[in-house]
Amino acid sequence: MKKGTKSILFGVHQFIWHPVTVLIAWWKLYGRPSWKELVCIIVHDWGYWGCENMDDEKGECHPVYGAALVFRIFDDHYMHDLILLHSRHFARRLKTEPSKLCWADKLSILYEPWWLYLPRAWASGELFEYREIAANAGFIPLTASHRAWYAWIQDRLSTLGREKRADVVAYVNPRRQMPDQIQINFDLTGEESRVLAAVSAHRGRENAVLGGVLAAVAGVDYKRLREVIAHLVNNHGCLIASCPRGYFIPVTVPEIAEATRSLRHRGIMILMRASRLQKASLEDIFNQARMEFGEGEE
Ligand SMILES: [Fe+2]
Repeated sequence: MKKGTKSILFGVHQFIWHPVTVLIAWWKLYGRPSWKELVCIIVHDWGYWGCENMDDEKGECHPVYGAALVFRIFDDHYMHDLILLHSRHFARRLKTEPSKLCWADKLSILYEPWWLYLPRAWASGELFEYREIAANAGFIPLTASHRAWYAWIQDRLSTLGREKRADVVAYVNPRRQMPDQIQINFDLTGEESRVLAAVSAHRGRENAVLGGVLAAVAGVDYKRLREVIAHLVNNHGCLIASCPRGYFIPVTVPEIAEATRSLRHRGIMILMRASRLQKASLEDIFNQARMEFGEGEE
């Protein structure tokens, strides 16, 4: 059984107990949640189901599932974003603030005594992954006891929950840098952010997702999805590729080369059209374009 599935069944994100602790934390921070918010609290981590690891690329995309689920039920962008942005990782990717659920989720660890948390984390295997990440980041060595580690993580997460600021403690997982394409993105509309978040969960050609599914996840219709993806690629410099099986983020060198090859091909075809219309050589058109671009940059 995969670690993510174990986490939901009997681990750290146990499907009854974890939402109970998040609910207590929510109550503490904001008072009583609406019933829709309560549904979000219950389902927000279901996306861990089937994940090999908790903190790898796929595990970090776990909010996409819950976000899509509540969007389908409620057709409500607030509920969608409440779940999607409960992850600091996603908020950082989308250059926005984490949602209210993020802070309740973090603070919830206060209601987990070590004797209840550690056995679950140990049984699901999460403990070893979390400890390795914390040790690799130089926070707490593997030689420290599990209880010392737990005291550290409890303090860290509850501080985040209380302060409600993503930068109040350093990011713990330094292994992965944000993909370049997301770093250069800013000023995305809510719709663009949702599409980008949805497609970001599908890294590599083998994880390509059908446009119809992506549209449902992002809460737009299929025609609009294609427009938004074209806009993200052309205007925001996002590297989103497509193949017969759908859309994906190119991650391997050949995938990136192929995605940019088709862009280059399209560019050359357009230049060729311009050269025919202007009755000039392709080289002249290219040099002319280069001069125009050069001037435009100054
Ligand atoms: Fe959670």
